[in-house]
Amino acid sequence: MNVLVTGGLGYIGSHTVVELIENGYNPIIIDNLGNSNITILDRLEKLTSKNIKFYKGDVRDKELLRKIFESEKIDSIIHFAGLKAVGESVEIPLNYYDNNIESTIALLEVMNEFKVFKFVFSSSATVYGDPEKVPIDENAKLGATNPYGRTKLFIEYILKDLYESNKDYNIAILRYFNPVGAHKSGLIGEMPNGIPNNLVPYVSQVANGKREYIRVFGSDYNTIDGTGVRDYIHVVDLAKGHILALKKLEEKCGLVIYNLGTGKGYSVLQVIKAFSKAVGKDLPYKFVERRKGDIAECYSDPTKAFRELGFKAEKTIDDMAKDQWNFEKNIK
Ligand code: NAD
Ligand code: WQD
Repeated sequence: MNVLVTGGLGYIGSHTVVELIENGYNPIIIDNLGNSNITILDRLEKLTSKNIKFYKGDVRDKELLRKIFESEKIDSIIHFAGLKAVGESVEIPLNYYDNNIESTIALLEVMNEFKVFKFVFSSSATVYGDPEKVPIDENAKLGATNPYGRTKLFIEYILKDLYESNKDYNIAILRYFNPVGAHKSGLIGEMPNGIPNNLVPYVSQVANGKREYIRVFGSDYNTIDGTGVRDYIHVVDLAKGHILALKKLEEKCGLVIYNLGTGKGYSVLQVIKAFSKAVGKDLPYKFVERRKGDIAECYSDPTKAFRELGFKAEKTIDDMAKDQWNFEKNIK
């Protein structure tokens, strides 16, 4: 079965391509290399011993999409492509609205032309904004607090409206919590450009000696140790969730929404501790001011995905740290 994977050379997309191949699917990738590198394709081919069809281009390019749908018999789409940096989205909101929303609309239009109706969308826990309570289930109030989050929220509404207009669609909206870690081979993982925004890439760069110390944003949150709590999920567990979502679409599920998380929250200090264990030395950190827009606690209620998809994240925080470090230490 041919699955078009947009953004398939990115962090989550590349891990999902591996799982697709391992589960007998044929991934076809489109990526504009805006936040990835062509070397990932070679690594994916090495890892899977398969030739992988790749189109370099932008998902907003409908002519290119038509060419792909004409040449490949696309059965379903997993739409990862998008910009994802919260801070940057505040600086250049139009780029975010243009890239994330236009690419989705272009894709949905071409899908409709070719009568392809199965769609998996990368949403985010960011659509819950500042949650009223944790753990967060799928019925929690929605409300994003930055342009990036709003692109995800708007796309969710677009998908709901589309489904209301035509019940031929089968759409899975997956709300990821905090994906971290890397493939155990150490060949693929997250490679942020410049100074990492997210905690785990930052911690691993400190472990690697690229940065001096970890800045812990805030020490006075109302949490277990005063630092922010998040639901970190191993990227390979997350990737496997997409296979289960595709299977659900094949059952003609209509529009479904799932949290993909572990259901467990870890504080910044607990993450640093797990990393220090994986690296074999205490990693230096300093408390600094809270980061603007951060919330104290965010973790999922993963019950619905377990009940309806059979999804359960297997990997522990120690696995996440170990695999992330295995990847990081091999980056030159
Ligand atoms: P990523 O930046 O590593 O991957 C995205 C890929 O899409 C990149 O390879 C980039 O080159 C490509 N791309 C971007 N815009 C494109 C366009 N218009 N046309 C073609 N290719 C384009 O990001 P990721 O971490 O793998 O995230 C994948 C998806 O999951 C994104 O939609 C992101 O918003 C969402 N998400 C990510 C996280 C996270 O923390 N990583 C959390 C929740 C949701
Ligand atoms: C985690 C915790 C920080 C960096 C972001 C997006 C979200 C989603 C995932 C896409 C917080 C603390 C961080 C550092 C720190 N992405 N921290 N020092 O903010 O939960 O989520 O990525 O959809 O939309 O907002 O993740 O890794 O940035 O932060 O102390 O250098 O680590 O305050 O408590 P976040 P994060």
